[in-house]
Amino acid sequence: MYDKSQELDLYNTSKFFLANEITIEDVEKLRTIIRYHEWKYYIQNDPVISDREYDQLYKKLEAIENAHPELITPDSPTQRVSDDLTSDFPSVEHLTPMLSLANSYNAEDLLEWDEQIKRVASIDAATPIEYVVEPKFDGGSIALIYENDYLVRAATRGNGKEGEEMTKNARSIPSIPLTANFSKLGYHKVEIRGEVLIKKAVFQQVNAEREAEGLTLFANPRNAATGGLRMKDARETAKRQMEAFMYQIGVLLNKEGESKLNEVKTQSGSISMLAQLGFKVPKAEQEFKICADIQSVIDYCLAWQEKRDTYEYEVDGMVVKVNDLALQQRLGVTSHHPRWAIAFKFRAKQATSKLLNVEFQVGKIGSITPVAKIEPVALAGVTVSSISLHNEEFIKSKDIRLGDTVLVERAGDVIPYIVKTMETLRDGSEQVIEFPKNCPVCQTILVKPENEAAWRCPNYNCEAQVVQRMIHHVSKNAMDIDGFGKSYIERFHQLGWLNNLSDIYTLEYEKIATLEGFGKKSAENLKAAIEKAKKNPIHRLLHSLSIHHLGQKASKLIAAEINHVLDLQHWTLEDFTHIKDIGPVVAENVIAFFQIPENIALLKKMESLGVNLHQTNEDKPKAIQKNAPLSGKTILFTGTLQSISRKEAQEKAEALGAKNASAVSSKLDILVVGEKAGSKLKKAQEIGTIQILTEEDFINMIQQN
Ligand code: IVH
Repeated sequence: MYDKSQELDLYNTSKFFLANEITIEDVEKLRTIIRYHEWKYYIQNDPVISDREYDQLYKKLEAIENAHPELITPDSPTQRVSDDLTSDFPSVEHLTPMLSLANSYNAEDLLEWDEQIKRVASIDAATPIEYVVEPKFDGGSIALIYENDYLVRAATRGNGKEGEEMTKNARSIPSIPLTANFSKLGYHKVEIRGEVLIKKAVFQQVNAEREAEGLTLFANPRNAATGGLRMKDARETAKRQMEAFMYQIGVLLNKEGESKLNEVKTQSGSISMLAQLGFKVPKAEQEFKICADIQSVIDYCLAWQEKRDTYEYEVDGMVVKVNDLALQQRLGVTSHHPRWAIAFKFRAKQATSKLLNVEFQVGKIGSITPVAKIEPVALAGVTVSSISLHNEEFIKSKDIRLGDTVLVERAGDVIPYIVKTMETLRDGSEQVIEFPKNCPVCQTILVKPENEAAWRCPNYNCEAQVVQRMIHHVSKNAMDIDGFGKSYIERFHQLGWLNNLSDIYTLEYEKIATLEGFGKKSAENLKAAIEKAKKNPIHRLLHSLSIHHLGQKASKLIAAEINHVLDLQHWTLEDFTHIKDIGPVVAENVIAFFQIPENIALLKKMESLGVNLHQTNEDKPKAIQKNAPLSGKTILFTGTLQSISRKEAQEKAEALGAKNASAVSSKLDILVVGEKAGSKLKKAQEIGTIQILTEEDFINMIQQN
């Protein structure tokens, strides 16, 4: 659609427009540029500017069009909302359009917006407006329709007017209630809106699993969540551990079809109502704040900007909403966004930088990781100058070259990564990155095992590997030697004191005490930590050995099956097949490790130095209640329990093998009814397949077991 020279021209003009005032003569050129970036983003999946730069260009266009409405053309990018429609899911019309949000980036923008609201609503400039501020969750938006209390439809935002229907997938997200008692409040048909997300930690876990399976990685938690929502198989959606925060009531109709939104009165009231009905919503104190005026909004937004990395979900800003729904009505909407809400966008997470050099690092099992050295850039408050390029395939698939301009992203506490390289900005001086043939540390010829992405140095005694293995050995998840980290290992290694794992247990603390920066006390602390680690359960020792693919979980499973670590010398593939969740790859690696005489000698040496090699109580799994009386059953408590608290009852049920459910559905096995049980009991009776127990029945069951 665009040739290379056009693209370069559009990119350069974009940068010029970003840096300079734009006159009304340039409005059409600006639209062309915005359309180009939309094409790069939505069609090519290959943006050349950051989201924030795009927003700024968009805002400039909006500003010109607001000042000169006669210049607006029907095909202006401001006259439509973005689109996530594809033909994979049926498209459905939203009950009312799902609009976008206008953006603000600093205190001045927010103050200006507050003034503008007062002007539009004819409110005196000195009168404060009450706002509600919530995180701007960075996931995929969703609209849920409940009719007669049942979830009947879920759809994505799509182009704002029409979205994609994905009710089945939404039903598999546990925080989306399948029924909610709106009828109790007199509401018959309700549409609520919110965001589907996954936690940052889950995102990392999903990616780690995908990496192990050789699948392409998700760039960020949002892609993992929206991708999860769009799975063809709803069971796959269920596996992603997705969650939904609901933050808005779109439509609220009574039986007669009349809108009852005015009964709710405030945005904060809508949130409380949704919370009471069982939805996951932004919580007061934690995520959500009612602010008496715009200054308090600004303070809250800025405070969140600082702490956003510590939040468990990805957020790209805050959303500020006028709290009074009647005032919202008066302010109304534009074709693009409501006038009563605005997004406050956090500092950019993306930036462009130059790739200066690539270093090749050797890991604990010899994997060679290319690391990009880039011109330092500030990303979300942190300066980034080094970024992993993972492996040769990553470099090839993104065609990253030395001297390239690269787009770097750091989303929250997610490790920074290179999103892409800007091919259009090459001038011919860039060089293809040559992957080394020899280990950069010991010069051994590198090998690439079949089915693995990384090149490896096969020399087990390669100095770099030995050091990395020792760093892993003492780390938190392995032997957990408190206070013993990378820098000590490297220093003691340089002094010639540490050449293999067993040397850790022969350190001379008197010598350490004399080192600069040490002292008697720190040497004693180190000694105490090492002595403590010697008594560790063997699952820690197994994990600390850096056996390829042998993680914490697998180490625990194996530890539970042996009496002594050296028993593994006699284990065959057949023996491992009896352990559920241990695959042949891990098994073969463990077998190979225990076939090497040096490794056996190392373990024996450690044992002679006092390291525990015997199974301990902690290695044994807690008794699995396979034959527990409620094993595999789902249970729900309703009404007031007299002799036990609900929490206690739920814990007891779990101890008997049951899983606690949150709502009555045909999947529920047991409903325990206390006093004043209401609609849940009625519904369970209607379903007919659910066993209904009184509190007394349940207590008897606990006592018998
Ligand atoms: S209110 C018309 N509240 O941001 C305004 N949106 O850029 C209705 N978003 O499509 C949206 N967190 O997916 C609202 N607390 C929040 C939000 C939020 C994230 C998303 C939403 C929307 C997009 C607009």
